[in-house]
Amino acid sequence: MAITPPSERIWWKEPIARVELWWILVAFLWGLFMFFMMIYWHGAGKQNLSSEAYRTTPEIFMAKTQAMVDQHTVRNESGFAVVRPPPDSDVYLIARLWQWWPSLELEKDKSYRLHLASMDWQHGFSLQPVNINLSVHPGYEMVLTITPDVAGEYTVVCNEFCGIGHHLMLGKIYVVDET
Ligand code: CUA
Repeated sequence: MAITPPSERIWWKEPIARVELWWILVAFLWGLFMFFMMIYWHGAGKQNLSSEAYRTTPEIFMAKTQAMVDQHTVRNESGFAVVRPPPDSDVYLIARLWQWWPSLELEKDKSYRLHLASMDWQHGFSLQPVNINLSVHPGYEMVLTITPDVAGEYTVVCNEFCGIGHHLMLGKIYVVDET
């Protein structure tokens, strides 16, 4: 880095150095390689989830979530409903300023259709500590078929900056082993 101007005023007409050309080539090939790895990882790795997306509205999504909460709430944790939906059912999780609602309790090794949507603006679903990440948008529901295979307590954090309460936007998913 220089704090004085280049000695040659027309410095940009210099030919590119050979070493720099090599670096450009290496970076380009690496980018290309990683592009195809994205596709490969979709099948072979644990990244790049096979999610589905459908149009919805906050009203419709809220109604479905409320119906699930009314039917399957098993307890309250500081005023927050913990819902235990039956295996193979549709499970709804709302992202809104600034919470994930409701808390969920799922059974280990059972499958669920997890629906995610936002009531207001964009949030980021980040399931910790397993580090599964998805964007959650208003107007769309993301649907994932999940089969939790490790019992424990999981935290959902918001990883998309959504205002003053962003850092407080935490949710809970419990995975319980019934066997
Ligand atoms: Cu929701 Cu950040």
